[in-house]
Amino acid sequence: MKEKNEYILGTERAELHRLGLQHQVWSGEARRGWEIAEFTEGQTILDLGCGPGYCTKELAYIVGQQGKVIGVDQSKHFIDYLQKGIELDGLENVDLQCASFDDMELEEESLDGIYHRWALAWSDNPQYIISRLYEALKPGGVIVSHEYYDWSIFQTEPQLPALNHAVKTAYSSFENSDGEINIGKHLPRMFQEVGLEVISQRTISKVGYNYDLVWQWPKSFLEIYIPKLMESEALDPKQVEDALSELIELEDLPGASICCPLMCEVVAVKA
Ligand SMILES: C[S@@+](CC[C@H](N)C(=O)[O-])C[C@H]1O[C@@H](n2cnc3c(N)ncnc32)[C@H](O)[C@@H]1O
Repeated sequence: MKEKNEYILGTERAELHRLGLQHQVWSGEARRGWEIAEFTEGQTILDLGCGPGYCTKELAYIVGQQGKVIGVDQSKHFIDYLQKGIELDGLENVDLQCASFDDMELEEESLDGIYHRWALAWSDNPQYIISRLYEALKPGGVIVSHEYYDWSIFQTEPQLPALNHAVKTAYSSFENSDGEINIGKHLPRMFQEVGLEVISQRTISKVGYNYDLVWQWPKSFLEIYIPKLMESEALDPKQVEDALSELIELEDLPGASICCPLMCEVVAVKA
């Protein structure tokens, strides 16, 4: 069943699995960002747009029993799933809020750190949300962002016609949505506008080969999102069928690769 204001890729089981797989590919990058920010025991950290909580749980172990992680997400499915997970794992230092970023409750100067990954790209008012995040950070608090810098570089090698068209249609659907898919490239400016000081930046590129785990990241995205493009009539059933067949074909081609959307990391501190 569809949720109200549902996130563009949905919240069903398949998307839950895709987010888990995605976390396997990206967890090392998340840890690197948290190390730069010196996230540590005893801190209070917000995981903005926590989804099913793959990072929330890791952060809960980092801050320990004396610390706290706040997970915010508007998806009830994801929050319920995460609530069960933290209970099973005996994690007592996680507070969850099922809320939109506009309505979330954050105390002023209460946070040592904030992490968000693939969260602000779907928002129609990121500058307002960033100003709220700024207010919620303690002086010296650090925000770590992992967002798309340039989604449009997503391509396969070799390029196959129906698949290529589906990838381009997916990008157009993001461009036509309320958010800014390439929000990552704007974050350094937006952070500075609210008074945050950017202390570290890097872009993160990944190319998947048909024998490795990185390949599974774009593959699982395409398997879920290409059929969704039929709902908005951006693609017809035949185009979807052809694109998915070419995805299978691609996997068997010697030397095939997938260039993934370019990501970036921005780390900023409140003076
Ligand atoms: C791509 S998922 C990423 C989940 C998680 N950050 C991760 O890296 O696995 C994006 C999440 O942001 C949430 N989200 C997007 N826009 C939101 C908003 N305006 N308010 C609250 N949650 C939002 C969605 O419900 C979804 O769970």
